[in-house]
Amino acid sequence: MRNAAVLAPEISLEGYLSAYSKKVDAALKKLFVRRKEEPASVSKAMSYSIFAGGKRLRPILVLAAHECCGGNAKDALKTAAALEMIHTYSLIHDDLPAMDDDDLRRGRPTSHKVFGEALAILAGDGLLTYAFEIAAQNGAEMNLDGKRTAALIQAIARGAGSAGMVGGQAADLEAENWKNKNHGFNPARHLEYIHLHKTASLIVASLEAGGILARAPESRLKALSDYGRALGLAFQIADDVLDAVGDKKKMGKMGSDAANNKLTYVSLYGVEKARMMARREASKAKAAVDVFSSQRNHWLKRIADYTIERDK
Ligand code: IPE
Ligand code: IPE
Ligand code: MG
Ligand code: MG
Ligand code: MG
Repeated sequence: MRNAAVLAPEISLEGYLSAYSKKVDAALKKLFVRRKEEPASVSKAMSYSIFAGGKRLRPILVLAAHECCGGNAKDALKTAAALEMIHTYSLIHDDLPAMDDDDLRRGRPTSHKVFGEALAILAGDGLLTYAFEIAAQNGAEMNLDGKRTAALIQAIARGAGSAGMVGGQAADLEAENWKNKNHGFNPARHLEYIHLHKTASLIVASLEAGGILARAPESRLKALSDYGRALGLAFQIADDVLDAVGDKKKMGKMGSDAANNKLTYVSLYGVEKARMMARREASKAKAAVDVFSSQRNHWLKRIADYTIERDK
């Protein structure tokens, strides 16, 4: 497998995303063969959601960051798969009746609709924990030293946890019905916190993980993390816009922000201003990776444009 950065000019963005999501799917297929200790029920529920489709953005970012730092994608595939597992778990829980209460995800009935709430919760738990097993395995197989392996696991845990994605999800729920909140509530500040945490944190972790596996120095990891923060914010603003005006069939989800009185870039600023703010963040993301050569940062920059231009 050649480093795709070298082939950059010859491949379209669509071609790149499709080739890399196929690599991710192949890695996931190998990892989701039922293990003998696993009850069929939870194993089936985990596979149902992980193989329901999805853009595979986070694992692709692991691979793109890894290659941007001089690595070869095949060496980071397990960590890429791990980030997709955590993302998929976050979607299963996000759709639960106690959270956004959604019935459709990735074009299919949501996990709790098919398996019931208890198994949907456990499928999420199973995906979250399996991710750490597989990322640690990747570190060992790559002969990462102890300090780097710890940094890898730490970066992923930080992005997923209560100071990251889980924290953002909690803030998102707290901000429902925000229009009725008292004067002390600052919606703009709260909203930025929500998006930086519920979405950007795991995206930052994906980029850092790819960089750590490539043994990138601190300064490069910092650039990847700055890119991820801005890209994640742009990505979630675009998600808010799609929720309001996107083609639900293409998206494979129905959109529930208005029904849940969510605080979003659309509900606070309107569609046009939200689009403008997403563009600004995508530009910031691109600028953050200027420390890499243009051959190396090619795909990260193209992905930044894709983040705000996508229709699903
Ligand atoms: C949906 O993520 C949840 C958000 C953080 C916006 P994606 O839009 O990446 O969903 P999939 O993985 O393609 O289904
Ligand atoms: C969810 O944000 C972010 C997650 C951590 C899953 P949303 O609630 O907007 O995601 P969708 O629109 O349901 O995919
Ligand atoms: Mg939500
Ligand atoms: Mg949701
Ligand atoms: Mg949404």
